[in-house]
Amino acid sequence: GQTVVRRDRFSGGPARGFLSSMDADDRIFEADLAVDRSHAVMLAEQGIVPEDDIGAILVALDDVEEAGFDALPAGEDVHEAIESAVIERVGPAGGKMHTARSRNDEVATCIRYRLREDLLDAVEAVNLLRETLLAVADEHTETVMPGYTHLQPAQPTTVAHYLCSYEGQLSRDAARLLDAYARTNESPLGAAAFAGTPFDVDRERTAELLGFDGVVENSMDASSARDFLYEGVAALAGVATTLSGLAEDLVVFSNKGLVELDDDYASTSSIMPQKKNPDTMELVRSVAGDAAGGLQGLLTTLKGLPRAYNRDLQNATTHAWETVDAVVEATEVAAGAVGTAHWPEEALADAAGEGFSTATGVADLLAMHGVPFRTAHEVVAQAAKAAERTSGETASDAGEADYEALDAAAREHLGESLDEAVGEDAVKAALDPAHSVAMRDSRGGPAPEAA
Ligand code: ARG
Repeated sequence: GQTVVRRDRFSGGPARGFLSSMDADDRIFEADLAVDRSHAVMLAEQGIVPEDDIGAILVALDDVEEAGFDALPAGEDVHEAIESAVIERVGPAGGKMHTARSRNDEVATCIRYRLREDLLDAVEAVNLLRETLLAVADEHTETVMPGYTHLQPAQPTTVAHYLCSYEGQLSRDAARLLDAYARTNESPLGAAAFAGTPFDVDRERTAELLGFDGVVENSMDASSARDFLYEGVAALAGVATTLSGLAEDLVVFSNKGLVELDDDYASTSSIMPQKKNPDTMELVRSVAGDAAGGLQGLLTTLKGLPRAYNRDLQNATTHAWETVDAVVEATEVAAGAVGTAHWPEEALADAAGEGFSTATGVADLLAMHGVPFRTAHEVVAQAAKAAERTSGETASDAGEADYEALDAAAREHLGESLDEAVGEDAVKAALDPAHSVAMRDSRGGPAPEAA
C-alpha cells in the first residue's frame, strides 16, 4: 500500500528507535492535527492545492483523529505518521498536505500550540493555590504564630501574614508564566525548513486559524529558536522554587506541631504506626530539583546549537513536557495540602513567644520614647541573655522573668527603671505576642488591620 513508501524512508535500521520521537509525540498529536488542518485550509484558500484534495485531506484528518494516536502507522515522528495515515486514506493526493512546509516549522508550531495550553494549566494551578492561601489566610488574620529568620524564632506574626507572603510571590510567578505564554503564542508556520517557500503562503491566516497572536517574522528564527521553551521552563522552575519554600516551611511546622496536615496529605511509616509524615510536602519540595534539572537540561541542549534546525531540538522539547507535568501536579497538591491543613491556635500562640521573640517590640517601644534604637537594642540584648530560657519554656511562663531582666538592663543602660522610661504596662503589653503583632501595623505588616 501507500505506506510502504513512508516505511522505506523510515527504515531506520539499528538507529530507528533512537531517531524516533514517537514516544513523546502523543503530547502533540492533537496539536499536529490542528496544524495540518490550518495549513490545509490555507493551501486551498490560496489556490496552492485544489479544494477537492484539501477536502479529502480534511476528512482523512478527522478519521485519523477518531482512530487515535495509537492507531497511527509507523513513522519517525507524529508528523510523518499522520501524513502516512492521510495518504493511506486519500491516496497520493494526501501528500499535497505537506506542500510549502517542512517538519521544522510544523514541529515548532506544534510545540508552541501545546505549550500554550500547558502554560495556562500551570497558571490555573498557581491561581488555585493563591486562592487557597487567601481563603485560609482570611480565617487566620488574628492567629498569632512565630515568624522565623535563620530558622530561629524571630518575631511573632500571623498565619495570614505568613500565607499571604507566598500569595504575593506566586502572583509574580503567575505573571512570569503569562509573559512566557505571550511569547510562545506566535506562529512559526510557513517558515518551512528555515528558508521560506516559493509558494504564496498566508502565514497570518494559519496563525489566525490556530489562535496565535501573530507570526514569528524571520523564517530562520521561526523554525530554529526555542527561547520560548526556556522562558516557559524558567517560569515553571520559579514556581517550583516558590513551592519548595512553602513545602519546607510546612515540613518544619509539622515537625514543631505548629501545623497539622490532613491525613490525605500525609503518610505513615511502614514500620512505625505512630508516625504521620509530611511526605507530600517533601515531594513538592523535591520538584524544585526536577524543574531546575529540566531547565538545566534544556539550556544545555540548546547551548551552542548552530542555525538552523538540528535534531538536538527534538530532545530539548521533552524537558519542557516533563517540567510542566511535575510542576502542575506539585502545585495542585500544595493547594490541596494548604486548603486542608489545621493550624493549632494554642500551640502557635505559645510558640510565638519563644526565644524572647517579642524583644524587638520592646526595643521599638524604648525607641519611641526617645532612647536611641542602638541603645534600646543593647538593653534588650542584655536582658535576652540574662533571661535565656530553658527549651520549651514560653513567654507566658516566663513573662515576669523577662520583665525583670529588661528592667535590670534598663537601669544599667538608661539610669532609670523601665516603669519610669516607658511604663510597666506598656512593656508587658509589648512582651505579649498578640499585642506585639497588633503594634506592627505598618503597611504590609502583620497587624490584622494592615492585612
Ligand atoms: N520530531 C522532530 C522534532 O521534534 C521533527 C523534525 C525533524 N526535522 C528534520 N529536519 N529532521 O524536532
